[in-house]
Amino acid sequence: MDSIVVTGGAELHGDIPIAGAKNACLTLMPATLLTEEPLTLMNAPRLSDIKTMSLLLQSLGSEVQMLQDGKVIAMSSLGPINTTAEYDIVRKMRASNLVLGPLLAREHQAVVSLPGGCAIGARPMDIHITALEAMGAEIELKDGYLHAKAPGGLKGARVPLRFASVGATENTLMAATLAKGTTVIENAAREPEIVDLAECLTKMGAHIDGAGTDTITIEGVDRLGGATHRVVTDRIELGTYMLAPAICGGEVTCLGGTIDLVGAFAEKLDEAGFSIEENARGLTVARKNGRIRAVDVTTEPYPGFPTDLQAQMMALMCTAEGVSHLEETIFENRFMHAPELMRMGADIEVQGGTATVTGVEQLKGAPVMATDLRASVSLILAGLAAEGETRVNRVYHLDRGYEHVEEKLSAIGAQIERVPGV
Ligand code: EPZ
Repeated sequence: MDSIVVTGGAELHGDIPIAGAKNACLTLMPATLLTEEPLTLMNAPRLSDIKTMSLLLQSLGSEVQMLQDGKVIAMSSLGPINTTAEYDIVRKMRASNLVLGPLLAREHQAVVSLPGGCAIGARPMDIHITALEAMGAEIELKDGYLHAKAPGGLKGARVPLRFASVGATENTLMAATLAKGTTVIENAAREPEIVDLAECLTKMGAHIDGAGTDTITIEGVDRLGGATHRVVTDRIELGTYMLAPAICGGEVTCLGGTIDLVGAFAEKLDEAGFSIEENARGLTVARKNGRIRAVDVTTEPYPGFPTDLQAQMMALMCTAEGVSHLEETIFENRFMHAPELMRMGADIEVQGGTATVTGVEQLKGAPVMATDLRASVSLILAGLAAEGETRVNRVYHLDRGYEHVEEKLSAIGAQIERVPGV
């Protein structure tokens, strides 16, 4: 397994290109199952999760071509379609469950393995199941697989979600495009990735209103056509790299970034003492004079502070002046980066869903272990600011969500290299 070695202390100056959004691409790709015509995605990120999704879709009978070094994904699902998503692929990536809605919509049946828990939580699928059952699906759990069928096809329905689940909103939205009648999703997730999916489905001929609000109305149609769609910019990669100059000084422009993608997060950076300027090239971030100020953060569904930026914000707060409280309300176990940061000298106390961080002058480099995607990048950020060398092990977590992280950071002055595993 590869490691990444960071030697801290360098200020960062220059431009970082921000890729297309992993979490948009992972829901756009299964949309190919909704049509027999070609669906092409531009600005796709080059990530291992994307490769996993393409393997899953190929196992279902879709044709998936990665062109232009993976930035373009050309798909077509002429059929016949295999309606079983096997455990050995689904267990690698929870987002595999996003084939459930499209398979039910197109084939009126699906057998999808439950993804199983992951490092950050149990991640059940009850909200997905309740939503699709409201549309007439019959779903039962057998041998770790969801066996779903909708004889005669799905029917439009009122679908109140008990929690604004991103994945459940996406599965329901895709299923509803081919259902008979009107579907209204209430308490829908409002993330930019949902808006991006709705825009792509609309290009394919779907009738959707309200994406980006908590109520989405979909008029089902008989069939969808193909489309070419540009994947929206990755707001989590954007937020992550905005923190790089924040944590170790300097001035960096995140190319293609826009403030509307990172609203609540940018407000917290401003409160902590950073200047963020939106310009024609993207978002330019620099540390104002003086030390970082401690701020309190509570993660919430969009447009609140994103849970996917909580670990990275914690890395910043480790050397802030004062005490910050980070409350994680979305996942039940998303503080695994805390003990690793403590190995670097951070002063963190975790009580249930809240981590209290007392800022220290300086972190010290140390060998640390990546445990999940966002925790691993928070350790890289901490290493950029730490004195000495930090070796982050198990960086396969990192490669799931960040393309060429060592290239992007070394291009702006970071001392960082990938060490191939033995
Ligand atoms: C998406 O996961 C993202 N993944 C996650 O990003 C992100 O953290 C999450 O949304 C929240 O924003 C993708 O888009 C591929 P949820 P998803 O359904 O859809 C519970 C990353 O780092 N829940 O909104 O799985 C669930 O357990 C990843 O890129 C149920 O209880 O998130 C969690 O506690 C990590 N029952 C909460 O809701 C359900 O049926 C939020 O889950 C579904 C979810």
